[in-house]
Amino acid sequence: MKNKIKVRASASIANISCGFDCLGLSIKEPYDEVTLEFNNSKKLSITVSGKKSSLIPVNPEKNTAGKAILSFLHSIGEKKGLNIHIKKGIPPGSGIGSSASSAAAAVFGINELFGNPYKLEKLIFHGMAGEEVASGSFHADNIAPAILGGIRLIRSYEPLEILNLPIPKKLMCVVVLPDFSINTYDARNMLPKRVPLKSAVEQAGNLAGFTIALYQENYELMQRSMVDLFAEPVRGKLIPGYKKIQNLLKKENVIGCGISGSGPAIFALANDIDVSKKIKTLIINEFKKIGIDSIGYISKVQTLPPQII
Ligand code: HSE
Repeated sequence: MKNKIKVRASASIANISCGFDCLGLSIKEPYDEVTLEFNNSKKLSITVSGKKSSLIPVNPEKNTAGKAILSFLHSIGEKKGLNIHIKKGIPPGSGIGSSASSAAAAVFGINELFGNPYKLEKLIFHGMAGEEVASGSFHADNIAPAILGGIRLIRSYEPLEILNLPIPKKLMCVVVLPDFSINTYDARNMLPKRVPLKSAVEQAGNLAGFTIALYQENYELMQRSMVDLFAEPVRGKLIPGYKKIQNLLKKENVIGCGISGSGPAIFALANDIDVSKKIKTLIINEFKKIGIDSIGYISKVQTLPPQII
């Protein structure tokens, strides 16, 4: 049995506008790195470094990686102690699956250390236990792509059923992270508990349209389908300049754009590298004009699961 492992897991874009809580994709950059090493204490001891890591709780019950590992250990009936180091490449509260990335790296790593008793799909449940600590809810649209890679549709939560969606060849993802945090727990609490039937019908149509567009590599259909009637009307108000940026992006050749997860990151999909570079700069400049620093990434969809490094 190996004693130590270091794992890298990618950021992810959840919701992709039309798929609240049921659609997410993995991107290559940025990522978190988690190192696990057995100790003799029977306890988890967590240390953190990297981007905004002072915001990360180190109590294992309150830490997404710690909680995911506790869930894993409980399920296999083990009480091992571990030193866990989390190096944050993804700032917490940025909207690109920071907590999911740490949880994904952690459960992938612990599964490896125990000789892979679980298939990747089975790790999602333990990752979700970690996610729940951060958001207060059991959603899988970050953790599923973070563990499995690719574009994933959560067809059902009970029972959990995750479907793999095709990745159009030219698809590129742009994410820009303004330098402030939104707590996913708060961003979920502010959502309406009910949605009008008309919005539900429209959102279902758009999610189906988006799914078909991926199969057909039909970027126009993808563009028409990327509308969020559930979360964006409420959460958009939390991001200064959001409406203006969205309107500017619509004038460029983006396939679609919106709030990544619960924000404040803004994402856009494109099928051209020059367009991707232009919109990344545009978003960064718009934030700068209102005094907000930001950092942007351009990435293809990450097709791989977490990597041992
Ligand atoms: N689907 C979740 C939400 C993702 O929008 O609250 C959180 O990253």
